[in-house]
Amino acid sequence: MSHFSYSGGRLMAEQVPLDDIAAALGTPCYVYSRRAIEERWRGFDEAFGARSHLVCYSVKANGNLAVLNLLARLGSGFDIVSGGELERVLQAGGDPARVVFSGVGKQGHEIRRALEVGIRCFNVESISELHHLEKIAGDMETMARVSLRVNPDIDAGTHPYIATGLNHSKFGIPHEQARDVYLMAQRLDHIELAGIDCHIGSQITQLSPFVAALEKLNEMYLDLKSMGISLTHIDVGGGMGIVYRDEQSFSPQDFVKAACTHVPDPDIGIFIEPGRSIVGEAGVLLTRVLYLKETPSRNFAITDAAMNDLLRPALYDAWQPVLPLREATDGNPRIYDLVGPVCESADFLALERELDLAEGDLLALGSAGAYGFSMSSNYNARPRAAEVMVDGKDFYPVRRRETMADLMAGESMLPG
Ligand code: LLP
Repeated sequence: MSHFSYSGGRLMAEQVPLDDIAAALGTPCYVYSRRAIEERWRGFDEAFGARSHLVCYSVKANGNLAVLNLLARLGSGFDIVSGGELERVLQAGGDPARVVFSGVGKQGHEIRRALEVGIRCFNVESISELHHLEKIAGDMETMARVSLRVNPDIDAGTHPYIATGLNHSKFGIPHEQARDVYLMAQRLDHIELAGIDCHIGSQITQLSPFVAALEKLNEMYLDLKSMGISLTHIDVGGGMGIVYRDEQSFSPQDFVKAACTHVPDPDIGIFIEPGRSIVGEAGVLLTRVLYLKETPSRNFAITDAAMNDLLRPALYDAWQPVLPLREATDGNPRIYDLVGPVCESADFLALERELDLAEGDLLALGSAGAYGFSMSSNYNARPRAAEVMVDGKDFYPVRRRETMADLMAGESMLPG
């Protein structure tokens, strides 16, 4: 979290004290650092040097229009998984010719729209999807560029809910079948075979699973080439891990170096789909302590942010750092569970943390820029948080806090 640090006892995002943002916009509030996002994206992009490549930011990690727009301005590509994400990218000024469309359940209307705006590639995940795409592209008298998402059967060594590359997973085409599917796809009139891809999971902190996947993809690429199927890119997917606690993850440069080494043919471009590693450490969630509650077995700090705002701890038992916005001075720490107001025992943000707290204190949940706001909900009829982008000495609201009217928008009652 290089752009979040203490200065004069206050936690800053770039040059802005986070408590100023909390005072101006209230809590819970997500805050992102422009510089952190841009540095990370450039880290991947520049490491490729002259090698043909495309960094496709994975929109699901954080789809705020301001985030997408900053990346679009840098020339980023985008990895999308729905028509909604496509509209967000277009709205933010993203180039459709740099969009890849992943996901096991693409719907007809989403495919049509993607063909209409001319996306770069469909990452096709099943034979049925391939036929559906062929039919729609035929009806539209156009060609669909396709990469087959291959499931390489690799253990990514991550939480089972976010591992996607094992053979029992719903994702991708089993690697044993891929060759035959390519041969079949080659005969379809409205499919242009462009690439091969995989995505083996998320928050992977070792390079070795990626290397194993790269070797399989490269082998398949060469095999297809020898059969006269010449692809133009290999897409390694996303999943690069970040630091939440004390993980020793690799750098963007290490990752790109491994990709270029294991796909040595300079004629083939390399695509990557990082989400978390671009925005994860670039964001925090600000929250205020509402109540301190001591019971014989636990000390609870009840915060105004809850599992509806940041689901990762409840869903994956994820550990997110907790940082006070003002460095404690009187030194009387205790062990607290940070819990929210939602009526679920899974509603915790952090467990058993040593903190020096008073009611009204402000805290930041760190490394919350990815899968934070994007997985938030209105559960318990809680308006979703505000979002803010810091740029140097300035900060900009990039999504206002939801109102009570927003909560009920689109609903209606029966007549009479
Ligand atoms: N490409 C594909 C096809 C994906 O399914 C994903 C993530 C990515 C790229 C980006 O992966 P990343 O670089 O962000 O790891 N909600 C979970 C993470 C779910 C990831 C789903 N797919 C979490 O909060 O840990």
